[in-house]
Amino acid sequence: MSHVFPRHTKAKLATAVAGDGPYIIDSGGKRYLDACGGAAVSCLGHSNEVVREATKVQLDKLAWAHTSFFTSEPAEQLADMLIERAPEGINRVYFVSGGSEATEAAMKLSRQYFLEKDEPNRRHIIARWQSYHGNTLGALAAGGNRWRRKQFEPFLTAAMHHIDPCYHYRWADAGETPQAYGLRMANQLEDKIIELGEDSVAAFIVEPVVGATLGAVAAEAGYFRRIREICDKYGVLLILDEVMCGMGRCGTLFASEAEGIAPDMVCIAKGLGAGIQPIGATLVSAKIYSAIEQGSGFFQHGHTYLGHAAACAAGVAVLQEMERNSLLANVNAMGAKLKSALEARFGQHPNVGDVRGRGLFLGVELVADKNTKAPFNPSLKLHADIKKRALASGLMVYPMGGTVDGLAGDHVLIAPPFIITEAHIEEIVEKLDIAVSGALKAAKAA
Ligand SMILES: Cc1ncc(COP(=O)(O)O)c(C=O)c1O
Repeated sequence: MSHVFPRHTKAKLATAVAGDGPYIIDSGGKRYLDACGGAAVSCLGHSNEVVREATKVQLDKLAWAHTSFFTSEPAEQLADMLIERAPEGINRVYFVSGGSEATEAAMKLSRQYFLEKDEPNRRHIIARWQSYHGNTLGALAAGGNRWRRKQFEPFLTAAMHHIDPCYHYRWADAGETPQAYGLRMANQLEDKIIELGEDSVAAFIVEPVVGATLGAVAAEAGYFRRIREICDKYGVLLILDEVMCGMGRCGTLFASEAEGIAPDMVCIAKGLGAGIQPIGATLVSAKIYSAIEQGSGFFQHGHTYLGHAAACAAGVAVLQEMERNSLLANVNAMGAKLKSALEARFGQHPNVGDVRGRGLFLGVELVADKNTKAPFNPSLKLHADIKKRALASGLMVYPMGGTVDGLAGDHVLIAPPFIITEAHIEEIVEKLDIAVSGALKAAKAA
């Protein structure tokens, strides 16, 4: 009997024992093409020797030294590399161990920043419905995914407020252009700030491309420029949660590069350690850092494994691998091919409403009726059946339910390693088609 507490106690999981490029191999020798990087994590696949070696070298020197006593060479080097490549104005890196820690740190820092500036009234954070910012209580409260929030609602702070996502396919008015819709959605931020009190909001936290909860939904052109303007007008900090969509996943190292705006803070994780080491980071602007430096001199936050040396060494090697092998070019080239292949296979499908995304961060939304966009009955758990069938055929994808409003709707998120080739694309599309067809047939028969 296993003593591991699994996510799903009723699921019978295979044991993963090895990796081979974009494949995971189980103890029975079965190979699974990882078309979702687990959860958009494994950007270099599962057998990258360079990052493994760099991690081992650091482990042999020094695995970890507590950050209340020391900095470390890998932390300094990785921070330099990130800042060199970061959006304008960002100049400090606060290293953590994952995405939830990165968003928690950003939100707490927004509060402390305003205390340092003697603006204690700034006590609200605004986020968007249908976003995901992590599972710790602060991150969960900021997140706008109803089924994830529901049972923990009594524990979630009332300091978090929500506006609608920018999700044109489903929520634009009839005939409304993407630009007009994007502007209308961005203006909800201004309305919310005014409703809460013009000088009472500390930060707005948002995923540039919504991952797990919406299935790779990017905002319409102009949305983020308007968001930046509103934040500037009311002195609200803009926190971009690039935990899933950043670190090259969308074809640029930082997802915000495509929006032409610079955030005040940006949260990264997942691809930064490529799954080889657990690492995340909150990158902050000079303005925020200097408020702390010239104020209390102490960010009142922290975790034991901040700036873990072996994890930072892996991060350095991941960035070097990406650049040495021109992987962002491959993300763009293979991303375009994968998207076209998905459109060709599923674009006319009566139960596929939308194929979307950027780079190697793509989503397929399933609908019961293509014309009305009506979702399948959530009790069918179509997304779970697609995942099960894909896995049976040796394909890992990341389907999720609640796409429409956190309760109904199904999508499949596809986020393969940056090293995939055209042959892998064919395998993804073939196996996904089999899984989707089988699940749809079963759902219609139910
Ligand atoms: C956008 C976003 N933010 C935060 C997180 C939380 O990251 P972690 O699971 O590493 O805590 C996730 C995880 O999926 C995410 O997608």
